[in-house]
Parts: sequence; C-alpha cells; structure tokens
Amino acid sequence: MQRVPIALGERSYEILIGTGLLADESAWAGLPQSAAALVVTNETVEPLYGAQLVRAIAAHHKAVHTVALPDGEAHKDWPTLNRIFDALLANACDRKTVLYALGGGVVGDMTGFAAACYMRGVPFVQVPTTLLAQVDSSVGGKTAINHPLGKNMIGAFYQPLRVVCDLATLATLPLREFAAGLAEVIKYGPIADMAFLEWIEANLAALVARDPQALAHAVRRSCEIKAEVVGQDEREAGLRAILNFGHTFGHAIESGLGYGEWLHGEAVGCGMVMGAELSKRLGLVDAAFVERLTALVAKAGLPTRGPALGADRYLDLMRVDKKAEGGEIRFVVVGPPGQASMRPAPDAMVRDVLAACCG
Ligand code: NAD
Ligand code: GLY
Repeated sequence: MQRVPIALGERSYEILIGTGLLADESAWAGLPQSAAALVVTNETVEPLYGAQLVRAIAAHHKAVHTVALPDGEAHKDWPTLNRIFDALLANACDRKTVLYALGGGVVGDMTGFAAACYMRGVPFVQVPTTLLAQVDSSVGGKTAINHPLGKNMIGAFYQPLRVVCDLATLATLPLREFAAGLAEVIKYGPIADMAFLEWIEANLAALVARDPQALAHAVRRSCEIKAEVVGQDEREAGLRAILNFGHTFGHAIESGLGYGEWLHGEAVGCGMVMGAELSKRLGLVDAAFVERLTALVAKAGLPTRGPALGADRYLDLMRVDKKAEGGEIRFVVVGPPGQASMRPAPDAMVRDVLAACCG
C-alpha cells in the first residue's frame, strides 16, 4: 500500500493506494468509530463492491446503512442529493455519522456535498472505484451537483478524512469509462510534469491492459501532483485552477449536449486539445506540442474534435464557468509544456479555435 499525504493543516489526510484495500484492515484502521455510517453508492457499484465495504467498516459502527443512487451524470442533481438526506434522516443519523462515498466522481462529489451540509458537516471517506475518481475527483475536497445551466455550480469545499483507492475495483470498469479516466491522468503532464507525460506515452498499452504496476504508478503520480497543488491553494485562489486544463471547453460540451451524453473525461480530453490549440495561438506552445497531445488523447480512445454546438453557444456556456469574472472567460493555458496559467483570450481567437477543433 502506498500513502500520499495531503497537507492542509488540521484538514490533512492521506490517500491510500493499493490492490485489495477493500479487504485490507490496515486501510480502515484509525477511522472514527460511531453509532451509524451511511455508505452512499449507486445501483451499478453497490452489487459489485457494497458488501465488501460494509464488511471492511463493520467493526467501526453499530449500524451501517446503504443508499444506492441512480447511476449517471444526469442524476448529479438536487432530487438525487435529497435521497442521501432522506436516508440519513430516516435512519436517525446523528452528527457523528460517517458517510462513505463508494463509486465514481458522481457519487463522490454528491456524497461530499451531502456530508458538508448534513447537520452543517459530518465526516466522510472517499472510496473511489473509477480511474477518474482515483486520480482526481476523490482528492482535494471539491464537492458539487450540477445545475441545468452550469456544471458543478452548486457545491462546497469539504475535505474527506481519507481516500482509499483499491486498484482492484478498476478491473470491472468498462473500457469507455477507463479511457475517460485517462484524460485526467494525461492532464497532469502538460500542466505539471512532462516526464510523466512521456511515461504515459510509453505505458499507455500497459495502463489500458490494467497492469497493476502501471496503474499504481499512474494513480500515485497523479495524486502526488494534485496533492502538491491543493496543498498550496485549497480553495482555488489561483494556482489550483491549472487542474482545470481542458475543463472550460469540456464543461461547455457537457452542459451543451446535456449531462451524460459525453462522459466528463471525454469532454476534458477534447477540451485539452482545444486548450492546447488556444495556447498555440497565444504563442505559448508550438504546433508539435498540440500534435503530440492530440495524438495521445486519440490513442487513449478519447474524442479530439468537439461537437458542433456553434461558437455563440460555446461562448455563452463558457461565460458561466466558475473561472469567469464579470462575464470574461478565463482559460487555463499551457506554456512552456509542463507549466500552466490562467488568462483571458480575445473572443475572435476563441472562435478560431472552435472553428479549427469542432464539427
Ligand atoms: P461516474 O461517477 O459517473 O462513474 C462512471 C461509471 O462507472 C458509472 O456508470 C459508474 O456506475 C460506473 N462505475 C464506477 N465504478 C465502477 C467499477 N469499479 N466497475 C464498474 N463500473 C463502475 O463518472 P466518473 O468519471 O468517475 O466521474 C465524473 C464526475 O466526477 C463528473 O461529475 C465530474 O464533474 C466529477 N469530477 C469532480 C472532480 C473534483 O475535483 N471533485 C474532478 C474531476 C471530475
Ligand atoms: N479537478 C479540479 C480540481 O480539483 O481543482
């Protein structure tokens, strides 16, 4: 088992990474004892891993309840969030109740938000079961639900007590979902570590084959980079925005097409190609960098061309991005490769990027 610390003062915690952690007592040791726990999962993941998690935490709680939400990004909304509160209240859960998020980023983001709100805050543990959740969404305390007008617009910063990444759970992940997770792994290269990008290029086949050593390295290095960034800027005053490379274009694709049409990771993969193209037009990277990133995104099985929503619609959608200020869209750009920053871009240039990258 590998441990990656997140240093956030009194909110510090560890990410545990290993194969078989759901059945490894040491991964659960030291978590709080309480009368009740609520495992929040979904209808797909519960039959796969629900019983294992309940067994792993049984000694910590007198009663372990489970709520299995409907599956999918389209259910990352108020009515589904309310089902978590219904389960907590129906079981008379008190403020020491521990919530466990068992699933992908949708379950993790909603469970974290519910934990932040219930009785003004109860402890929660992330047990991510998708590649995307293990390398990104379970780490760093961003929690949210979607609004029809904007992605992740209603939420809170709320850190978990621990993140337990059992790599064995990735064996059942459908290929399309695995590829979506690769988008967030690839992201860490251009923004922070070009040696890691090179490693991904060289080890893509091993990753797709879910080779345990390759997976362990990809998850650990991704978490290390995220931990480093979040440790410096927990609430995204500035630096943390680099983790959103590709997301401004990507979120527009997700909300523009309707949540769940493209997977989040697919939209991010394509959004990174657009972000690289914008970086090139701003003179920050050369054409070879754009081609290299585009080739890797394609090889990972992700789309590299955006849907033809129309430039006006893209611009409207991007103006509700959380990084926008006073209606001015601010993009994460790369340059030189391995470093990222945030800046506005002229609408005309963004239109040129959309024309070059969509349809
Ligand atoms: P997801 O949660 O929808 O999971 C993907 C699919 O895989 C679902 O159908 C799920 O039921 C299934 N699944 C999960 N684990 C499985 C397993 N082990 N075996 C078989 N099937 C399994 O999607 P995701 O890609 O994990 O997460 C995307 C979400 O994460 C988006 O809502 C995005 O906004 C959010 N996100 C949040 C952050 C953050 O910092 N909080 C960062 C990145 C993404
Ligand atoms: N996924 C972006 C962030 O955590 O800040």
